[in-house]
Amino acid sequence: MNKQDKWNERYLRNDSSVAKELTPSIVLKNHASFLPQQGKALDLACGLGANALFLAEAGLITSAWDSSDVAISRLEKVALKRQINLSSQVRDVCLRPPEENSFDVIVVSFFLHRPLFPELIAALKLNGVLFYQTFVVAGPNSKGPRNPNYRLNSKELLLLTKPLKVLYYAEPNTSLKENEALADQALLIAQKVGR
Ligand SMILES: C[S@@+](CC[C@H](N)C(=O)[O-])C[C@H]1O[C@@H](n2cnc3c(N)ncnc32)[C@H](O)[C@@H]1O
Repeated sequence: MNKQDKWNERYLRNDSSVAKELTPSIVLKNHASFLPQQGKALDLACGLGANALFLAEAGLITSAWDSSDVAISRLEKVALKRQINLSSQVRDVCLRPPEENSFDVIVVSFFLHRPLFPELIAALKLNGVLFYQTFVVAGPNSKGPRNPNYRLNSKELLLLTKPLKVLYYAEPNTSLKENEALADQALLIAQKVGR
């Protein structure tokens, strides 16, 4: 089974891990004040597209890309039902990353492909903002993928996005009750600024 079939199967199975994808990522929802009032936004590797729906409702011209046709078709149905206008695409973002200088906002949650970072940064317009949230390496009982290729090292997100200006960064202290949902995750908001 190739990777895309695996994701499609997951979205068809629709278990509790998929249900979590129906809400926008915390990095976006809790820090929406960093969004511009207008412009073009991309939810990259969007899955069911909760971030894309949020961005479109915030008034941005929104694209949502994912390699799973099952996820994209589910997103399209939800967008239609809620009368939310967005442009969705079945697209392998590793093979076809966003074009240079094309988005004011890029959101990535729970997807990691390290070689893509230079392209993500190039795809931001001047003053464009990247919202990123995904797992960092952690103990054997932590949630999320086991494969280290899909988990950041601590503070690695800061290195991968070094040309950008950090507006917000957190690896929440999960011993605090209010941070439980963010166990073993890194959250970043960073902006492309002029020299
Ligand atoms: C864990 S899900 C996260 C989905 C969504 N971003 C969220 O936070 O709910 C990872 C997503 O990445 C997508 N994906 C994996 N490899 C991809 C690729 N090369 N290009 C586009 N999407 C990809 C999968 O289909 C899946 O929807």
